[in-house]
Amino acid sequence: MVYYRQTYPRLPFCFSEVFSLRLMEEKILAEGEVLPGGILKVGSFLNQQIDVAFLRAVAEEIARLFGGCGVNKILTIESSGIAIATAVGLEMNAPVVFAKKHKTSNVDGDVYSATVHSFTHNTDNTIMVSKDYLTGSDRVLIVDDFLAAGNALKGLISLCRQAGAKVEGCSCAIEKGFQHGGDDVRAMGIRCESLAVIDEMNDTSIKFRS
Ligand code: G4P
Repeated sequence: MVYYRQTYPRLPFCFSEVFSLRLMEEKILAEGEVLPGGILKVGSFLNQQIDVAFLRAVAEEIARLFGGCGVNKILTIESSGIAIATAVGLEMNAPVVFAKKHKTSNVDGDVYSATVHSFTHNTDNTIMVSKDYLTGSDRVLIVDDFLAAGNALKGLISLCRQAGAKVEGCSCAIEKGFQHGGDDVRAMGIRCESLAVIDEMNDTSIKFRS
């Protein structure tokens, strides 16, 4: 599968189905770095520098997975989710809404909100989205870069439920299966597709769910 590493050309459907299976895993093995505390550093392609050709391939895959589900809105949370959600929005021709973590002057009082605990940072954030941008007629695909304890996804699901929007599914680039957030979301009856699920990792090896 080396031929995907450099250019990630747009592929016909039948080929994209094959290549998508291991795309993210290969990228993690090539460029990811396991840091102490169970953190995977992917700053070279996802979290700080963005490999845009790779991002487009990721978005094509997520769009393929959820095409035909009637999704009319992509929802994510600032900040790292925005790039991948925007790429997915382009592929699915759907607007992208991102929940804010801090109330700013351009978010007025009429918001849905939820408290999200960050396992990684050990902080609580109130996330919010304006009632103008999430409504009862929306069929939402929730997208994020990382799925760890799942608190961000659960907060976003809560915002959808407050709005009466239907959650068609969740899709994350990388799921840390050993933190079980994905299991929790699936147990809620929500379809959750991650492009790579890591069941174990240490500084010498990364084991993916097959
Ligand atoms: P959860 O949402 O699944 O519960 O996860 P958690 O609270 O632990 O994640 C908090 C933040 O850390 C999130 O970003 C998440 O994307 C990120 N994160 C979690 N595990 C990893 C990891 O192994 N590697 C990297 N690079 N990031 C990880 P955030 O705080 O919301 O910040 P932002 O980057 O989106 O602004």
